[in-house]
Amino acid sequence: MKHTIKILVLIILTSACRQIHSDSKIPFTEGREIVTKNGMVVSAHPEASRAGISVLQKGGNAVDAAVAVQLALAVCYPEAGNIGGGGFMVLRQSDGTKRVLDFREKAPIAAKRDMYLDGDGNIAGKLSTDTHLASGVPGTVDGMVRIHSLYGSLDFRDVIQPAINLAEKGFPLPEDQAASLNRNRENFTGRNRILPAFVKDSLWKGGDVLRQPDLAKTMKRIRKHGRKGFYSGLTAQLIVNEMKRGNGIISEKDLENYSSVFREPLQTDYRNYSLSTVPPPSGGGIILTQLLGMVESSPVGEWGFHSAKAVHLVVEAEKRAFADRSGYSGDPDFVSVPVKELTDRKYLRLRMNDFDEKRATPSSAVFGGDPLADENEQTTHYSVADRYGNAVAATTTLNNTFGSSIVVEGAGFILNNEMDDFSVKPGEPNMYGLTGGDANAIEPGKRMLSSMTPVIVEKEGKLFLVAGSPGGATIPTTVFQVIINVVDYRMKISEAVDAGRFHHQWLPDQISIEANSIDSLTLMELKNMGHEIRTRSSIGSVNAIQILPDGRMASASDKRGFNTACGY
Ligand code: DON
Repeated sequence: MKHTIKILVLIILTSACRQIHSDSKIPFTEGREIVTKNGMVVSAHPEASRAGISVLQKGGNAVDAAVAVQLALAVCYPEAGNIGGGGFMVLRQSDGTKRVLDFREKAPIAAKRDMYLDGDGNIAGKLSTDTHLASGVPGTVDGMVRIHSLYGSLDFRDVIQPAINLAEKGFPLPEDQAASLNRNRENFTGRNRILPAFVKDSLWKGGDVLRQPDLAKTMKRIRKHGRKGFYSGLTAQLIVNEMKRGNGIISEKDLENYSSVFREPLQTDYRNYSLSTVPPPSGGGIILTQLLGMVESSPVGEWGFHSAKAVHLVVEAEKRAFADRSGYSGDPDFVSVPVKELTDRKYLRLRMNDFDEKRATPSSAVFGGDPLADENEQTTHYSVADRYGNAVAATTTLNNTFGSSIVVEGAGFILNNEMDDFSVKPGEPNMYGLTGGDANAIEPGKRMLSSMTPVIVEKEGKLFLVAGSPGGATIPTTVFQVIINVVDYRMKISEAVDAGRFHHQWLPDQISIEANSIDSLTLMELKNMGHEIRTRSSIGSVNAIQILPDGRMASASDKRGFNTACGY
């Protein structure tokens, strides 16, 4: 009895949620793990989730709320939220129609295949990550304006207003975020002529208010002129001036030409569920589809969560999927990616023909190999569902935490360093250790390959799950684990998201495992099968919504970060 009470108290404490009144005066609930009936927003920052819920409560739909969240994240979560970057969105409408919006950045017109190489053909310093040359042409504003004009129901001014308020009036920094700004202080001061709003005289403390007046002005231009408020006029001029200052190459023409694009969702079935996710230029959807296809014939649920047998199978599937990514994936507007063939069930069965259930297959025997770097970077995912059955899963990024750390002078936003997602030198690993091939070589106007994997899952035609994650190469394997945790291990969504994770990406030939997530006996078994194991800090950060059998919505905002759900 005592034990039960203790557990109850613990549950109440850990899932603590608050009733809050928004602008519209309708109360809403906020917390990590909440259940509500009418609408739900889960994002990386409490302010952005509040922006989304306020828009839903004003009568907006999931698209209105998603656009409000994306724009609010650009203010309150500059680590990855952005208007200077890009991303992918999966939309499910209440009638079951699914669409994918690709607002990924593009290489500028003046970009060249070998622009980051020195005279000897070697990668020259950190040009593709730390300089003005690192930025692709931003896609977020075009994407948000486009999706809103087609599917939003409120006036655009209403969905951008929360972001303007946050930038103008400021917001109190959560402690972790104050620390994250402080950690990046040197990059901000070193790479900008005028100190941006992200740096102040002393170090930031939790509760300090961050105001961004330049960004507020940029957002107001977007409020007034839509995409033109960013891709032409003063904002465009400020971007081009910034480029000139730092030898960057994004031109007025690049900005004018930029266009987001709708793509056919990549759809697959797994057991009794149907998934819709993103096709190239993200490789994430293909990897997720391949992993599901490669494990479906095995009863991983019966084998047990994190049993050596199940981890071994998943890792072997991951090796094969990542080996394929390296060879075939790139921007489908430039190269033909054999998506159908790569996700074909027969092919996936063949791919696992050399799977040995007792031994690790060395990566060198899966395909040729090369070493890699580490990863501690930020992207961010938000999930939204409304009471009409519309849902949005969107992942967005500047690539690195705070992108290139270069802030457009006078415009107040950070530029991405997404160019590093190209194969800067085909055959050499990028900062996520991903080795790219020719399909992902730099070409003017081309989109760089991504791993982002926002996903919407249905069961018997009804909305079931909205999910996604940051984490570079670990994104698709993270999303995959959340799905099998729910489907095969019957976890509720918050358990599925908080559960420990592991990752293999073919090269290097090792399993990365979150510290203390797999017991030592199982680790020993895996080592005996021939796996090399490395423990690392957290993998991914999932923001998800599950629709319960009674129609209510349950949130999971990952314990890894200051993710927050708001619902009503
Ligand atoms: O598009 C991509 O795959 C990368 N630019 C994403 C970077 C990322 O997820 C960093 N994350 N934590």
